[in-house]
Amino acid sequence: MSPERRPSFLAEHVDRLAGTHLRDLLKDAARGKRLRHRLGPVLLDLSRQKLDLQALDALGAHVEASGWQAARDAMFAGAPINTSENRAVLHTALRASGSRLPSPAPRDALNEIDATLKRIDALVKAVELGDASAFGLAPGITDIVNIGIGGSDLGPRLAVRALTPYHVPGLRSHFLTNVDGQSAYELMHQLDPKRTLVIVVSKTFTTQETLLNGGVMRDWISRAYHGDKAAVARHFLAVSANVAVAEKWGVPAAQVYPMWDFVGGRFSLWSAVGLSLALSIGSYNFHELLRGAALVDDHFRTAPWSENLPVLLSLVEYWNRNAQGRGSRAVVPYADLLTDLTSYLQQLEMESLGKQVTPQGQHVAQSTSAVVWGSVGTNAQHAYFQALHQGTDVVPLEFIGVVKPAHDLGANHDALLSNLLAQAAALALGKTFEEALAEATSGTEEERRILAAQRSFPGDRPSTVMMLDALTPETLGALIALYEHKVFMLGHLWGINAFDQWGVELGKAIARQILPALEEGGASRASAFDSATQALIDVIHERRTA
Ligand code: F6P
Repeated sequence: MSPERRPSFLAEHVDRLAGTHLRDLLKDAARGKRLRHRLGPVLLDLSRQKLDLQALDALGAHVEASGWQAARDAMFAGAPINTSENRAVLHTALRASGSRLPSPAPRDALNEIDATLKRIDALVKAVELGDASAFGLAPGITDIVNIGIGGSDLGPRLAVRALTPYHVPGLRSHFLTNVDGQSAYELMHQLDPKRTLVIVVSKTFTTQETLLNGGVMRDWISRAYHGDKAAVARHFLAVSANVAVAEKWGVPAAQVYPMWDFVGGRFSLWSAVGLSLALSIGSYNFHELLRGAALVDDHFRTAPWSENLPVLLSLVEYWNRNAQGRGSRAVVPYADLLTDLTSYLQQLEMESLGKQVTPQGQHVAQSTSAVVWGSVGTNAQHAYFQALHQGTDVVPLEFIGVVKPAHDLGANHDALLSNLLAQAAALALGKTFEEALAEATSGTEEERRILAAQRSFPGDRPSTVMMLDALTPETLGALIALYEHKVFMLGHLWGINAFDQWGVELGKAIARQILPALEEGGASRASAFDSATQALIDVIHERRTA
């Protein structure tokens, strides 16, 4: 990375550590005490990060001087910290019911949240008992389709899959997201319209993908009822901050669940956006999820930086991104149930932190969001781990493991965990040329040396391990909240607004301009597009009639 983008207070630490291998750093027994922390069911192990205690203390001094506690308290209290939209950021208030500390959030927000949670609880109970007619719904629902995108999809999708062992029997969940009609087409061929409940989730209720898919599903159900609008409405719920528009779209007022401007889409799992999850796992478990998140909220509000898990996570990311210049981070859960965690974190981190301008309109001094990517292990080991071990770029990794599985296939689980531990160790320790040479027993000296060069591993590659006691609603809530607060801290450290997302607007606006040109006869209109776009529009017109 260019030295001018590296925070100067970290330069001496980077230089000092440049010549020290992680293998040697790991010999320091005191390291584990400072870099390994437990919070309830979550163990966070940062001991394989490429920093020593001096560097950690420098980071700690930096964050202490930054006023992070005041910034954190302002968020919890509902100050309008999302300045470009003049909005409060109150996702923590959504789980205040599970907190041991009194919430400093505005009373009216807490009251609205409480009332909505009660509505959700009552609805979930009625659906479980098999008669939700008092809530406007048709009887005999077997399948729920959550229609939403981004924050209106990724959280519920992650949690519904992760908590499969907690699903109430007799209800299946589906997620319809992409505007690609293929998914809607497949669902309509798979499901019975008279037994399907559609939940249209959109904070704005203006999102093209969601409204198009909602319309497709509405037409499908309408055909089954020969156009009887009242019958169709009994198959729909909506979740939105734009209640009036949701009603206008066709969902009766009593079936619209509110969301609020003070909750960002990617932080909204804990609100009615999590309705499909609450229906899948039942009210008790939904509240357990909230309780897990509240456990982290309380910890974040009270623990000193040196023991504060979200703060430590943010400092390690700051170190990797800004001091070491790492451009990406791989998230690799060793749990099939956490398959959707990586895409969830992609939105949470990259939409929040992919900014280059401060709220005052100045360019930021440092690099911001790393690229977040990854997939489940062990599959990942057989795909891209080669590059992580021996490639030229160093990519920090995050391993997430679960101590107690939700099944009794113990041998599989031991194999899974042994692989997680082995990868973290191999990446850190590596294998020296001499070690590889000692293993090469046949061939000439020259041949042995050539082979050893290819079979040695540089090591010195940093990783974090998070070990969950078990994948329960409480643990999942805690895990997600840890990342949420890490994002808050990085926004604070980088001096950016982590709660807006203007960067998604330009593409949406251009798509709106392009859409008419793709319609029949659209090609003949005078082109308002750049030459590359126009050429591709022409190809689409030519080839679809060919
Ligand atoms: O386009 C990005 C985005 O606005 C995300 O921030 C959001 O989570 C998603 O679209 C969906 O928005 P909505 O819930 O308003 O449909």
